[in-house]
Amino acid sequence: MSPDKSFERPPLPPDFDDSRARERRSDPAGWRFDENERAGVWRAIAERRDIRRFRTDPLPEQLLQRLLEAAHQAPSVGLMQPWRFILIRSEQTKAAMQALAARERLVQADHFDGRARQYLDLKIEGIREAPLSICVCCDRDSGGPEVLGRHTIPDTDLYSTCLAIENLWLAARAEGVGVGWVSFYQPADLSSLLGLPEHVVPVAWLCLGYPDERPSRPGLEAAGWERRRRLDEFIFSERWGDLLSKPNPQTVVRSPNSEHVEQPDWWRRLAAEVSPGDPDAAVRVRDASDELVKPIGSLGGLETMIERWAMATGGPPPREPHAGILVFAGDHGVSKRGVSLYPARVGAQVAAAAARGETAIGVLAEALDAELIVADIGLAGARISALTDRRVADGTADITSGPALSPEQLRGAIESGHALADGLAKRCDLIVLGEIGIGNTTVAAALLAALTGLTADAVCGRGTGLDAQGLERKRSTVKAALEANTPDRSDPLECLRRLGGLELAALVGALLAAAAARRSRLLDRGAPLRRTRAQPCAHRTRARAATRPAPAPRRRQRRRARVPAHRPCSPTPHRDAPL
Ligand SMILES: Cc1cc2nc3c(=O)[nH]c(=O)nc-3n(C[C@H](O)[C@H](O)[C@H](O)COP(=O)(O)O)c2cc1C
Repeated sequence: MSPDKSFERPPLPPDFDDSRARERRSDPAGWRFDENERAGVWRAIAERRDIRRFRTDPLPEQLLQRLLEAAHQAPSVGLMQPWRFILIRSEQTKAAMQALAARERLVQADHFDGRARQYLDLKIEGIREAPLSICVCCDRDSGGPEVLGRHTIPDTDLYSTCLAIENLWLAARAEGVGVGWVSFYQPADLSSLLGLPEHVVPVAWLCLGYPDERPSRPGLEAAGWERRRRLDEFIFSERWGDLLSKPNPQTVVRSPNSEHVEQPDWWRRLAAEVSPGDPDAAVRVRDASDELVKPIGSLGGLETMIERWAMATGGPPPREPHAGILVFAGDHGVSKRGVSLYPARVGAQVAAAAARGETAIGVLAEALDAELIVADIGLAGARISALTDRRVADGTADITSGPALSPEQLRGAIESGHALADGLAKRCDLIVLGEIGIGNTTVAAALLAALTGLTADAVCGRGTGLDAQGLERKRSTVKAALEANTPDRSDPLECLRRLGGLELAALVGALLAAAAARRSRLLDRGAPLRRTRAQPCAHRTRARAATRPAPAPRRRQRRRARVPAHRPCSPTPHRDAPL
């Protein structure tokens, strides 16, 4: 080498740092991307959104692979790479996850009190529509017993997993792929659904697909739920400063019993007839409404309802839907505990009046030219000729001292409800379901407490108008029923046998039959006797009369306040019917 020629460093192999100290000193920011590339990154960060509405078109495999690569390039403590990805395309698994999310959504409604209705109107997931879900898990054992940097902060593996998720999220945004993070579930339930071992934590359920919305700001901000705060409210200098904003209320998480439950064959046969809904049909309906000259979503809950109709049946509602109304009447052994203002025999009288068309449902059936069947599924006492006789037993046993039903009675009631609805489904587009029976709000409250983990106090209301003492009696009755039956919510069918009424079991069968026949279902939820006597169930007929005014808000407000459990269960009757 000639002495007057300075050394030229040979190029390094790829993957080695090729920069020189001189360069770094003279241009400390020289590691940045060029201007256009930077703009892309900033844009991905600013315009990443949580997506809840999806097209059903599948994602190209190669693109999915790239997104997973993006996640896999995340930083991780000690380079332990604790993330694991479970790709979920099975409709069954997605449906099961959606059921977990739906339950948790109801349970959490109780925490928002004054905002429960607004909360329940928010769309919080798109599990069924999205063609792909990814459960991102953290394997807490990966990296061996001693992971560099994790010694004092064991949760750094969870932090690392979140970073993988964010990588995927940003890359997906750049590729025009929507990602929605769903956290409405009890982790133990999800672990059980996906067969996760003890040392694996489900960190996120992500819905992925092409978005069927292109939001420019967070959905919760657009819905007026929460707003983005100013950055300078979050920056302190040197020491922790006073926070100007209050933290959000914490949600209570209970640990469920999620043992695997073997269901009887007859039940599995009925359940297997129900096919998952048709998200394509829902998207087609949404596409059609997007063609209209109107602001997006301007028809509010009506648009959601029509999408749900399409999801359930495969198409939009017919112009003149023909409704069939099926009301099951049954008596409850628990009614002798003084949980209702009325004696048990009134149930049979109301059922007879309903069959004669003298109750509100009779009037509505006539006005809508709907077929009305009032079935005796388990009344006590003499049989009434006006009722369709499907009596399985003379009422249920008292749930404060043991199970309401024997296994045979449970099966009998479910199969009878199934058979009746199956017949009706052949003639109707819409199956409207209801029940009659003294004491059934107590039974429904006990069942709700068993299935959600809510307390007896939270689920009991005044029903037909109990006074304070009566309400206290009802709460103690529900507590006693829960103690006597020790229901395990991972086995809903057994919960129904131990706590439920015959009419609730028949409703379950009817719902299965209607779903199997791909008919829309409209379920009357709430205090049956009071409503049967006095309240016109406008929401029962809304599929037909969707343009009619909703029931007066004041009345609904009052009922919500009187029956706390209705808050999670009857959010906005005219908007959120379980079609
Ligand atoms: C850990 C985590 C869990 C979330 N869980 C849900 C959820 O269950 N349902 C939902 O609709 N959004 C969920 N989100 C999305 C947030 O609501 C959303 O990120 C936030 O409102 C900001 O909106 P943006 O992501 O569109 O900017 C979750 C987000 C994170 C980070």
